Amino acid sequence: MKFDPFAMERWQSTYEHAVRFNLSESGVEPLTLGELVELVGMDPAELSDTLIEYIPSDGSPGLRSAIAAMYPDATSNNVLVTNGGAEANFVTSWVLCEPGDQLVYLAPNYMQFPGMAVNLGCTAQPLPLREATGWQPDLDELSSLVTDATKLILVTNPNNPTGAILSAAAMQRIVEVADSVGAWIIADEIYRGAELDGIETPTFWGRYDKVVVTSGMSKAFGLPGLRVGWTIVPENLREQLWARKDYTTIAPGSLSDVLSTHALQPTARQRIHTRTRGILNANLPILEDWLRERDDIFTWKQPQAGAIVYARYDLPVGGLQLAETMRTEADCLIVPGDHFDMPNYVRLGFGPKPERLREALARCADVLDSLCVKA
Ligand SMILES: Cc1ncc(COP(=O)(O)O)c(C=O)c1O
Repeated sequence: MKFDPFAMERWQSTYEHAVRFNLSESGVEPLTLGELVELVGMDPAELSDTLIEYIPSDGSPGLRSAIAAMYPDATSNNVLVTNGGAEANFVTSWVLCEPGDQLVYLAPNYMQFPGMAVNLGCTAQPLPLREATGWQPDLDELSSLVTDATKLILVTNPNNPTGAILSAAAMQRIVEVADSVGAWIIADEIYRGAELDGIETPTFWGRYDKVVVTSGMSKAFGLPGLRVGWTIVPENLREQLWARKDYTTIAPGSLSDVLSTHALQPTARQRIHTRTRGILNANLPILEDWLRERDDIFTWKQPQAGAIVYARYDLPVGGLQLAETMRTEADCLIVPGDHFDMPNYVRLGFGPKPERLREALARCADVLDSLCVKA
């Protein structure tokens, strides 16, 4: 079987705990267990009483119904709990991608699903999103790319790495185009709830019968270490995804299931999202001021969601080399645009605590200055 490694995740796994400053992460500073317990108003005794056992392998009934409540007309029978959004994407690709199928994906994108599709013998065709149009898709181009051979259309909304949110017209057109050829829409909505303006991104769920939504606790909730994700799917497809999960991780962790169930209750969810949005709105100006001071090097569109800015740069150095120089000389991890097939871009995270972010950016500034002198 062909195997293309997932370049960005490998880069992050290798270095994120080895550097002093991590600006490679796309979510906000994670919560501690103590902060979470307090924020959701949980009795700590409940945690000590939780059996560290195998729980229902598709997620506890309480967690599944809390997740279903976030999607119009969904029930627990549409929900499969997974280990992170990553497993949600993985089992979905494993069921839906067959050799010879074509996937069309809005690019740039989180490259897990396209990578898996290719590894499973599919072709993956990018629909380029452009900075000049605020990273919105050209809808005519979408229509011309999608053919009878197209089995799947992948969107990440809000987008990683651009932080842009699809317009209502674009969502509608994507549904129409998918419907015209009977393609599945895979909507990775893991940044939903992390909007800077506080207006929740509409979901694709309920707009068309062949929609799979994947999501999880890692980004908008700031709880990546829980490793809880989910898929929202038509019931018959849920059975097929669940059967694959017997081969991957069996069940979610029992402690993570309990904590996620609390975090997803309406009041708790609102508190957590308020925290996330507070961090995003406090930190984005720090990064944008820094970029503005270097507007001879960087151009970017302000993100609408997520703790990431996708910036184009003008320097005589490739993205991989720039990121490697930042890592070795500034002790700071950033994501090179090469990991999104766009070498002259970098993805900069602004989720850390403000003082860390400022310190990291000051270090990066020194490295940039020396690169400019050399150039
Ligand atoms: C769009 C997208 N989907 C899925 C994931 C994986 O999420 P998780 O950490 O919940 O597995 C990420 C992580 O960066 C992501 O950006």
